[in-house]
Amino acid sequence: MHAFTDSDELKRRLVIGLESKPKYIPFSYKYDEVGSMLQKDIYEFNDGYYLTASETWILQHHVQDIIPDASNDLTLIDLGSGDCSKTRFVIDELIKRQKTLTFYPLDISGEFLLKVATKLKEEYGDSLTIYPMSSDYKEGIEHLIQIKSTKLILWIGTMFNLSYEDQINTLRLTSTIMTDQCRLEFSADITLSRDAVLKAYDDDGGYKRRFNLNVITRMNREEGSMIDLDKFSYHFDFIHNTHPEFTSYIRAYIEAKEDVQYSIPGLGIDMAMKKGEHFYLHEGTGLSCKYTLEQLQTIVEKAGLRLTGTLIDKENHAVLFNVLLTARLILGRVDVGGNQDQPGKNHRIAVSI
Ligand SMILES: C[S@@+](CC[C@H](N)C(=O)[O-])C[C@H]1O[C@@H](n2cnc3c(N)ncnc32)[C@H](O)[C@@H]1O
Repeated sequence: MHAFTDSDELKRRLVIGLESKPKYIPFSYKYDEVGSMLQKDIYEFNDGYYLTASETWILQHHVQDIIPDASNDLTLIDLGSGDCSKTRFVIDELIKRQKTLTFYPLDISGEFLLKVATKLKEEYGDSLTIYPMSSDYKEGIEHLIQIKSTKLILWIGTMFNLSYEDQINTLRLTSTIMTDQCRLEFSADITLSRDAVLKAYDDDGGYKRRFNLNVITRMNREEGSMIDLDKFSYHFDFIHNTHPEFTSYIRAYIEAKEDVQYSIPGLGIDMAMKKGEHFYLHEGTGLSCKYTLEQLQTIVEKAGLRLTGTLIDKENHAVLFNVLLTARLILGRVDVGGNQDQPGKNHRIAVSI
């Protein structure tokens, strides 16, 4: 496996968040191995968490629709692959058609990714060649530019945790590794019912809360801080906004019950908070964005891409958008084609297992 994750960069972003007003934790800090396991628990045990079931339903029932008929020999890329449980529908279908498949799962936690990739390899054997990439989107996508084959790129259950600008920027960056033959499939949550959202994110079993608060326990464990969560109350809200250039989203934060001060030796900083001060468990305005179809269409357009297909689950919770390059980007690709061969020409981007 190849790791591109820069732990110094993550620490640098952590310090920026802790020294900001209000304080926040970068979203990707949630996904160490423990966080990835807690995310898996949400999928498995939080019955109110509708999104997994809805995305799974779409992939299960429409996998043939998302793979172009004419294509053969597609390479599969999965951005934010997690436990790959939904990806399996696509892997199965591609192996059925092509007999063999090359697969690049990309995710933050190297430990978790390696376990997932090893399990897949055991199951699929020689028909699946896996190049796991432990990386943030940006570094990972920049390396994936070296793959010349036709790609089917999945970005499932993941985009909506980035800030609005980063959703657009990551889509735009992803377009740089596409040709006019490639497809990008990304999913989004279109649930705007406050009740359904609260049931999913403020669940009785406390799965989401444990996942969100893992950032503090991780910091205590890795950076030697001794932040006492009993000195904070946990808050959660759903902000509804249907303006075409915004999204609805979840806001999650802890609030200090009294004045507190903690030293964080691993980061070389102290963290002081006044009673009533908020500490956000995400960057930007919020996380887990919810969208109208118009809002999603605006994001696709802002990223310079073209929407060609929309699949919605039977409960109306999730949508899978199929996007292609616009004509402008296809023409642009001819210009950059020569340069693409230059960087890292003899450099393997990841090691297969
Ligand atoms: C909600 S899970 C979805 C996993 C999987 N795609 C699915 O649908 O089951 C989000 C995944 O995205 C990964 N992720 C979040 N931010 C990321 C980033 N900046 N770069 C790479 N992966 C990221 C997380 O580690 C996590 O595994």
